[in-house]
Amino acid sequence: MARRGARTPLLLWLSLLLLLRPSGTQQSGAELDCASVAVGAPVVPMGSAITASCTVRRERCRGLEDGRPRISWLLDSEPMAGKQHHGTGGTEVSELSVPQLNRTQTKLWCCVEWNGTKQRVGVAEVRAGYPPGKPSNLSCLLDLGDYGLTCRWQQGTDGHLPTNVTLKCTIRSRAPAVTGCTPRKGHNQCTVPRRLLQLYRPMELWVTATNALGTAESERLRIDPMDVAKLDPPTLQSIHSVPPQTDCIILSWTMSPRNAHMELRCELRYRTPEDPSWAVVTGIAGHAGTVQHCGFLFGMLYHFQMRCRRDSARGYWSEWSVGRNHTTHEKAPTGKLDAWWSTRPAAGRMEVQLRWKAPRRQEANGRVLGYRVVLGPRRRGREPQTVCNTTDTQCDFTVPARMWKVYLSAYNAAGESAETEVILLERKGQPLAGLWAVPRGERSLWVHWEAAPVPAVAYVLEWQQVSSEPGHCSTCWQLEHNGTATAALIQDSIEPFQRYDISVYPLYKDAVGTPAHIAAYSKQKAPSHAPKLHLKSIGKSQAELSWEPVAVELQNGFITHYTVFWANSTTEVSNAVVNSSLSSFTIQDLKPSTLYKVHIMASTAGGSTNGTSLTLVTTVLDDIEIQFLFLTLVLVFVLLIVLLICFQKNGRVKQQFWPSVPDPANSSLGTWVPAEQEPLQAPGVKEPGLVTISTVTVLDKAAGKQAPTWGKEFPAELPALPQPYVRQHGPSTPQANAGLGAEPVQYVQVVGGSSLGPQHVAPCLYLRSSSTQPLLSDPSPEPYENLWFRRAAPSCARGSLEEPLLDFPLLRGLRVNGAEELHDFQPC
Ligand SMILES: *[C@@H]1O[C@H](CO)[C@@H](O)[C@H](O)[C@H]1NC(C)=O
Ligand SMILES: *[C@@H]1O[C@H](CO)[C@@H](O)[C@H](O)[C@H]1NC(C)=O
Ligand SMILES: *[C@@H]1O[C@H](CO)[C@@H](O)[C@H](O)[C@H]1NC(C)=O
Ligand SMILES: *[C@@H]1O[C@H](CO)[C@@H](O)[C@H](O)[C@H]1NC(C)=O
Ligand SMILES: *[C@@H]1O[C@H](CO)[C@@H](O)[C@H](O)[C@H]1NC(C)=O
Ligand SMILES: *[C@@H]1O[C@H](CO)[C@@H](O)[C@H](O)[C@H]1NC(C)=O
Repeated sequence: MARRGARTPLLLWLSLLLLLRPSGTQQSGAELDCASVAVGAPVVPMGSAITASCTVRRERCRGLEDGRPRISWLLDSEPMAGKQHHGTGGTEVSELSVPQLNRTQTKLWCCVEWNGTKQRVGVAEVRAGYPPGKPSNLSCLLDLGDYGLTCRWQQGTDGHLPTNVTLKCTIRSRAPAVTGCTPRKGHNQCTVPRRLLQLYRPMELWVTATNALGTAESERLRIDPMDVAKLDPPTLQSIHSVPPQTDCIILSWTMSPRNAHMELRCELRYRTPEDPSWAVVTGIAGHAGTVQHCGFLFGMLYHFQMRCRRDSARGYWSEWSVGRNHTTHEKAPTGKLDAWWSTRPAAGRMEVQLRWKAPRRQEANGRVLGYRVVLGPRRRGREPQTVCNTTDTQCDFTVPARMWKVYLSAYNAAGESAETEVILLERKGQPLAGLWAVPRGERSLWVHWEAAPVPAVAYVLEWQQVSSEPGHCSTCWQLEHNGTATAALIQDSIEPFQRYDISVYPLYKDAVGTPAHIAAYSKQKAPSHAPKLHLKSIGKSQAELSWEPVAVELQNGFITHYTVFWANSTTEVSNAVVNSSLSSFTIQDLKPSTLYKVHIMASTAGGSTNGTSLTLVTTVLDDIEIQFLFLTLVLVFVLLIVLLICFQKNGRVKQQFWPSVPDPANSSLGTWVPAEQEPLQAPGVKEPGLVTISTVTVLDKAAGKQAPTWGKEFPAELPALPQPYVRQHGPSTPQANAGLGAEPVQYVQVVGGSSLGPQHVAPCLYLRSSSTQPLLSDPSPEPYENLWFRRAAPSCARGSLEEPLLDFPLLRGLRVNGAEELHDFQPC
């Protein structure tokens, strides 16, 4: 291409080229004209080699750099290298060969380097494909309207190349072929016009397909176009049942006038609305007429259709005619009814429930209007008693006891059937030796049994869906007429995932066997629900759970077992398998005071279902432990109560612990008017609740004899005590001491015996305060109390007095005023 600053005409030239460049080239400025590409063959068989040469004429490639242009190739967009050499007339030629061309359509580009970039300067297109496939299945149909022969065929394999398809035909084998018709693009059919056809004589037709790589022809079809004429369907005129009480019909039909000149063969088909398939009557000849056919059921609606074709040809059938319905006439029902009964004695009569099966289609002979049960056989001139006249297939009635036979019949509009004698045999015969059931599909069950040694006449199978709601299927039974059978299929009202109770009764000549029972499912799956868990009791390490079995309809199978799962937040899930017959379970070895999640899984042969989980917390203590604790507490409490009552009621015991204390209010001291009110109180010794001591009485214990001694000793020692508080008894009498409780109260009674006394009676010091509380709450009140009660005893706690006395606030008060004197008591 031109360098920068090229002349204006060149730019114009380039612009023109840009406008004219073939679509698909992306580069600008390519001068396609400056090279020509030649290929060995423009169409090749797929996978074969191709050669191409590109000739670049330098003088046409304006702006091309001086020197040898470098030619390269592009196979679509894939770069290829060719062999380059000088050509004649100053041309540059590159030869390319591709060993295998796999694509159906390929563009070969020839490129030249121009201003540093590759420019496409020439192109050639190469196609690869296969010869056309052989067309097949040619068939033709003559339209009797315009007498055009329409032919169809199946195309052969695609050759990936443009293909011409034509239908050729010839009147005679050797005659030259003419083109009958050409299909529209993409169609596999075309119509040969009447003028090219030869009717009533054979001609040959075939399809040719031609492409660049070859031609293929279909098999030749040799036909008389009339043989493939498509007839108009016949018309059904009328249908009659003839004569009454036979199973025949007469049907009349006609053909369209257009087909009237042909020899025809027709066929008739019919069926009832319930029948899935048609019954066909073939070989009906003629143009029109009647057909008689027998073997129809009585009182049955039939649908009829007819079609025809040319008799001589293997040609085409007409369409089926418009259908026509006909109901055959009725006849009284025939055959015997299957009956089954149960009896129950009731007040001298017998209650009978009789059930029967509607007659089969072949025996009903029309629409059954009802059934009649009578008590005796019908005889001329005598009408037996009718116990039932019903449209139902069961009837409850009573018969006189010992009436063992009833007669059952069905009637329709045409009459009544012969009677079926039903012998109401008792159910006391031998039962079956064995019974089992296996599913056969979702809606049927095979029931197998092992017969009893006695030969049976027939068997009755009864089944009921097991349900928590009472329900009874009165039609769920069937009679097995073959006494030697050992199996029967039941398929009436059998649903999957429902439990059925199946009973089989053998019928013997003179009795009905007692039934054998079996429960079965036609299909099982996981239960709809798992039972709901209830916590029955819980302890420290165990929890008792209970559940109610799931309703039988929701079990969806036989529960094989339950699995109880439990886990707390830290441990793995534990489980235990529980027999399906149980409805409670105790989980052992739980941790105390721990939260557990528990759920139950119910399993059938068809799967398992988990229930919702129950959260439970184990207790800290066991029931027994709690009971023990409780009992202990109760015992302790009771003991306490008893003790309290004892203290309240029993004076002696009370006295033992809380002796009665004279009321100081009644003391004679209370009447005393002291000369001078001066509290006897040591500073700092007042205690809360401590009654201020207002009186101190010093008594001589051994009043009668030693009083003077005492008197002698103390007056001198007690001047510090305010006189009015000290009352020195004069010679006191023993009586006075004995009646102490009734005596005027002493706050403190200090009784002392002089060690110097001639009697050597152990001189004891007794102290008491009526202000009980502080004294009792004192850590060591015993010395005083005991001293008091053991006053009469000569032995005293010697020497033990000193320290308690000094600690005692009261006595401290004493001591404040006469410490030295207290020491003087020590000899006691
Ligand atoms: C030639 O190529 C150069 C860079 O590759 C570009 O700048 C220049 O425009 C080209 N000339 C033409 C005439 O296309
Ligand atoms: C054709 O196919 C063969 C093998 O599949 C392959 O090696 C070859 O490169 C292909 N040729 C082209 C032109 O794609
Ligand atoms: C040709 O037609 C027959 C019957 O019409 C059919 O069974 C067969 O499959 C057809 N052949 C092809 C190749 O479709
Ligand atoms: C014939 O009977 C069938 C079934 O009852 C019905 O569907 C159909 O329409 C009837 N045809 C004619 C022609 O009455
Ligand atoms: C049975 O009942 C039908 C209709 O209820 C009645 O027409 C018929 O006469 C009855 N048959 C007998 C034998 O009673
Ligand atoms: C029920 O739960 C247990 C424990 O969580 C689990 O292992 C089991 O697979 C579950 N079963 C079903 C049917 O989901």
